Amino acid sequence: MNRIEGRVKVTGLATYAAEYPVEGVTYAYPVQSRIARGRVKRVDAGPALELPGVLAVLSCEDPPPLPEDADPELALFQSREVAYRGQIVAAVVADTYERARAAAGAVRVDYDPGDHDVTLRMDHPGLYRPGVVNPGYPTDTEKGDVEAGLAAAATTVDVVYETPVLHNNPMEPHAALAYWDADGRLMVYDTAQGISTSRNMIARTLGLPREQVRVVSRHVGGGFGSKGTTRPQAILAALAARAVGRPVKIALTRQQMFDVTGYRTPTIQRLRLGADAGGRLTAMEHVAYVQTSTLVEFAEQTAVPARVMYAAPALRTAHRVVRLDVATPSWMRAPGECPGMYALESAMDELAYAAGLDPVELRIRNEPETEPDSGLPFSSRHLVGCLREGARRFGWEHRDPAPGIRREGEWLIGTGVAASTYPARRSPSKALAKVLDDGDILVQVGAADIGTGARTALTRIAATALNVAPERVHVELGDSDLPDGPVAGGSMGTASWGSAVVRACEELVKDGKEGRADTTDEVKKEAELARHAFGAQFAEVRVSAVTGEVRVSRLLGVFACGHIVDAKLARSQFIGGMTMGLGMALMEETLTDEEFGGFLNRDLAQYHIPVCADVRDVEAYWLDEQDDALNPMGSKGIGEIGIVGTAAAIGNAVFHATGHRVRDLPITPAKVL
Ligand code: MOS
Repeated sequence: MNRIEGRVKVTGLATYAAEYPVEGVTYAYPVQSRIARGRVKRVDAGPALELPGVLAVLSCEDPPPLPEDADPELALFQSREVAYRGQIVAAVVADTYERARAAAGAVRVDYDPGDHDVTLRMDHPGLYRPGVVNPGYPTDTEKGDVEAGLAAAATTVDVVYETPVLHNNPMEPHAALAYWDADGRLMVYDTAQGISTSRNMIARTLGLPREQVRVVSRHVGGGFGSKGTTRPQAILAALAARAVGRPVKIALTRQQMFDVTGYRTPTIQRLRLGADAGGRLTAMEHVAYVQTSTLVEFAEQTAVPARVMYAAPALRTAHRVVRLDVATPSWMRAPGECPGMYALESAMDELAYAAGLDPVELRIRNEPETEPDSGLPFSSRHLVGCLREGARRFGWEHRDPAPGIRREGEWLIGTGVAASTYPARRSPSKALAKVLDDGDILVQVGAADIGTGARTALTRIAATALNVAPERVHVELGDSDLPDGPVAGGSMGTASWGSAVVRACEELVKDGKEGRADTTDEVKKEAELARHAFGAQFAEVRVSAVTGEVRVSRLLGVFACGHIVDAKLARSQFIGGMTMGLGMALMEETLTDEEFGGFLNRDLAQYHIPVCADVRDVEAYWLDEQDDALNPMGSKGIGEIGIVGTAAAIGNAVFHATGHRVRDLPITPAKVL
């Protein structure tokens, strides 16, 4: 299907959070801390308040009352403590954006700075074992005897991989517009991946009952995780609107987004692998080191995919985290799985070379019968099918395994492979389906379409469930007054909302007029199974022997993700994820300022993402899986698996081209030469 909102989006008619026409709107602009750690001694709002059009200055000098247990990232102006450079310490409200911005520059903040530490190291004395890793997995697992397995191995690999801080850069910057009704109800146009989630978080932060908050987010220009949890702009708009008694809009700049909307933690990962003479793993150990802030513990699940991938009689995974004077890391497309699989799949490539085995064959030889860590049966698993189908389509069989020998002029050429995986989950959701006067069907669900095509996919799901033409189905989403739906995240939006939509449609068929569904019980009663999507990524690179520049001439992915709801939407998700993986492999890197804290390259001129000219040839294919243990559609999430494995496939191809193994991303010319 074509995107239902495609026309309004490309013609500029789709309304985003900052664009709702609201009478009497005013503007807020944040003041950000200039120190990485310390205390705000004094905020002098005087000079700002004298400027034209300024309505208020909010700061810790006069903290708005918030519940004591509010999320410290959102509890604005409650504390004088500064936890990271760029933290919001004050804000100006004025009658225009420009006046608010100018006045923000006139607010004087005096600090008592303390010593800061913003650098993750493998030997950092502050590293500790977190309680759980995102989103609730055990921190460490151990099965069998890793040391004995390594000692008995014919081939071993012991390597350390590193990935940098990465930032989500959705096209639509974070923005919110808030006002309070005469009866005290808060209305927020926010840019949110979770409509009901956002309403709940805003209500909780402000100490309001849920019913007193409404969040509307009909179109979202990308999120990738950065809009999965409520960000300070929504809270600031609400607090400022209360302070001035007028609607307040806040639109963060790209630079501000880098500071306050989360980022992918840097990782340091040690992989120890051992294999017998036949290439079968005797031991596998994956230890991940990540960072969090002093405010909130967010420990990424970096080593979790190692629990899923390969049969190894001895398997140990562990996560260590350190609290630094930095903003709290958060979700970025396939948090954990993406950097974790980069390291694991690169190390598997190293093992293949060390063992003298083809890297596709090495993976096939280590295919497990049940989920290695839990022993649970897989609901479906077609990694081997993806590897074989990918190898066939890519032309892998003609590959000469020797590295560094193919050359066309200045260009060294190589190919690489890596596997992908991502969990196939769903969350409880509600939905409503009813027959309209003209006989068409209205479907309502508190879902968010963050650019994935959720609105279109849900239309197709409802049309299929009702056996009517998609044109007769009208899906309403993006409003917390609709039936509660979970976040568009964890690649589980479609599976979660779609389940409720199908059930509501079934109820409608029974009733003739209207059907309501709540899948809470259905989700709770799911059988215990290992549910994951799998894939195989193939890359061809050309590396300049003169400049060290890496060009990805081909990317090809084959995925096994249950039943594909819509081919066109799915292809977009896969190639979008793979493109983001290309960025991770070669370009993306946020530099932390060790001297002053904070991030240095906070815009798209300095934080490089792939543009069309970088993306030459990307192909995505899939194996249609029949899996009845998932949801009524038989679908697995596809939003994140495309990025998983891509960076490893490219890195492995760079090794094959050059004979030089780069173990820290991104693979920039300086590291290649
Ligand atoms: Mo995605 S990082 O689960 O929004």
